[in-house]
Amino acid sequence: MTDTMIGVIGGSGLYQIDGLQDAEWRAVESPWGAPSDEILTGRLDGMAMAFLPRHGRGHVHAPSDVPYRANIDALKRLGVTDVISVSACGSFREEMAPGDFVVVDQFIDRTFARAKSFFGKGCVAHVSVAHPTCPRLGAACVEAARAEGIKVHDGGTYLAMEGPQFSSMAESKMYRDAWGADVIGMTNMPEAKLAREAELCYASVAMITDYDSWHPDHGAVDINDIIRILTGNADKGRGLVRRLPALLGADRAPCPHGCDRALEFALMTAPD
Ligand code: ADE
Repeated sequence: MTDTMIGVIGGSGLYQIDGLQDAEWRAVESPWGAPSDEILTGRLDGMAMAFLPRHGRGHVHAPSDVPYRANIDALKRLGVTDVISVSACGSFREEMAPGDFVVVDQFIDRTFARAKSFFGKGCVAHVSVAHPTCPRLGAACVEAARAEGIKVHDGGTYLAMEGPQFSSMAESKMYRDAWGADVIGMTNMPEAKLAREAELCYASVAMITDYDSWHPDHGAVDINDIIRILTGNADKGRGLVRRLPALLGADRAPCPHGCDRALEFALMTAPD
């Protein structure tokens, strides 16, 4: 058994959590460079927590420039066992409406301008991301959301795009109709892949802010609408996070899905 430590990567509204004890912003060094910002650590209902603003305080990192490897590595160094990603997304489904949450369980990775692995020169590994999120952690997020009265969709496919521009209508229709994606965002990849390489459980809570550009009754994506929905959702996001310590429990049994042993059969290079 190890101690559970929850790491939350998300926006600014999330880390002003009531009841976070011993709260302290900590600079964490990583050989992968500087993380997006200092990390807020503390205890919530007795459980160690870490909050990392993905875009930095003041939103200074564009999606392509987020230091994804340093972020995951810094959380691992702090002792995080379970990473909850909270992010905004557009919806490709009528029934997944702005204001709803989706606990994502699949990804289509269309990003192309980001470092995607901790491995490469001198040490090669191929981890499986057939099931890129942790079902145990995802189930806890769904339960926490339901307990908070949030309209949450259990499962969905997230298309990760490079950005920073939003999609054209033709792209939006292709992702929805031909590729079967449910939501779209710019930040969950390579985050999810790196969390798997770091043997961390990872769940993604996507907050729907818009209908992207496929919907005949809705106009183009507008950043002001996104900010308005996100601001309105901040309380819900904090409520969800507040319930996680009780749901996950302090003693962490090995992950039944093997997230914490992902490298066991993945390394190609013999150790020195
Ligand atoms: N984030 C929020 N809405 C989005 C959209 N429609 N496309 C990409 N990223 C988003």
